[in-house]
Amino acid sequence: MAAQLIDGTAIASEIRAEVARDTAALKAKGVTPGLAAIIVGDNAGSISYVAMKTAACAEAGIFSETFRLPESTTQEELVALVRRINADARFHAILPQLPLPKQIDELAVIDAMDPAKDADGLHPNNLGRLLRGELAGAIPCTPNGVVELLLRTGNDPSGKHVVVVGRSTLVGRPLAVLLSNKAKGGNATVTICHTATPDIAVHTRQADIVVMAAGRANTLTKEMIRPGAVVIDVGVNRVDAPNRPSGYRLVGDASIDVREVASRVTPYTGGVGPMTVAMLLVNTVKAAERSVR
Ligand SMILES: NC(=O)c1ccc[n+]([C@@H]2O[C@H](COP(=O)([O-])OP(=O)(O)OC[C@H]3O[C@@H](n4cnc5c(N)ncnc54)[C@H](OP(=O)(O)O)[C@@H]3O)[C@@H](O)[C@H]2O)c1
Repeated sequence: MAAQLIDGTAIASEIRAEVARDTAALKAKGVTPGLAAIIVGDNAGSISYVAMKTAACAEAGIFSETFRLPESTTQEELVALVRRINADARFHAILPQLPLPKQIDELAVIDAMDPAKDADGLHPNNLGRLLRGELAGAIPCTPNGVVELLLRTGNDPSGKHVVVVGRSTLVGRPLAVLLSNKAKGGNATVTICHTATPDIAVHTRQADIVVMAAGRANTLTKEMIRPGAVVIDVGVNRVDAPNRPSGYRLVGDASIDVREVASRVTPYTGGVGPMTVAMLLVNTVKAAERSVR
């Protein structure tokens, strides 16, 4: 039987409506949540991701401003901007859109943010708190979106074996921490696979839930999962599509045949992506709420 597709767009829109309600309550107290997004250079992906995020802010009643800096920006200039935003009371959250140009050390920029204004939960204070099981601060948006997607589709990871393929600081590792925390959305038995894993299929075949965050098309095929597994595909990969005007199309890390074996699968678009945006709004509003406590 073909897998049921998980509608991330619908679930994200539910969350965005909740955010809009929380934003209205804050505004009634005289506080408008604010997000500062920073784009350095002309990366088309960054520009379109930030446009989506700021449009979602506007829809939820969140104030946002995008700071565009040239590709030649130095690390010192970017850190100086981050510090100015740290001190600007209009903004409760800061999002330096990654990747940054080569001359800039991303960690130095993340470290320069006031941890209370860290929109993606990547500041060491916030990652450290996550590791300690303290979930009141900013949680990285994509991992948090994956957990929310599981919870809201009746696939609570508690007691399940979840295999996460990918160990980045942005996705794989914070997700593994969230899933293994002794908390709602956690309590799973988690295996992390990466490029030094000799045979990821040995692990994925045992999983109740597989989360793909490798950034490589066709890394997971139908032979690699067990019947009825849930597959959450974080990957976004360009593959050649000569018939399309753009010359490419976007696919995930799981091949399409996975849908013949899995019970539920996220689609290539409208799966995890909209959840990342929704969780950014959640982090922004929570930061604004904490600022008035
Ligand atoms: N939808 C969204 O909202 C969203 C958000 C963020 C990211 N993404 C997408 O998610 C993907 C992952 O992002 P990322 O930032 O985590 O990427 P990343 O920093 O490149 O990390 C990829 C991870 O996958 C592992 N890996 C790569 N190929 C593998 C393979 N064949 N087998 C097993 N492990 C493999 C790497 O292992 P090593 O550590 O050993 O190199 C690394 O840990 C990308 O496609 C990205 O575009 C989507």
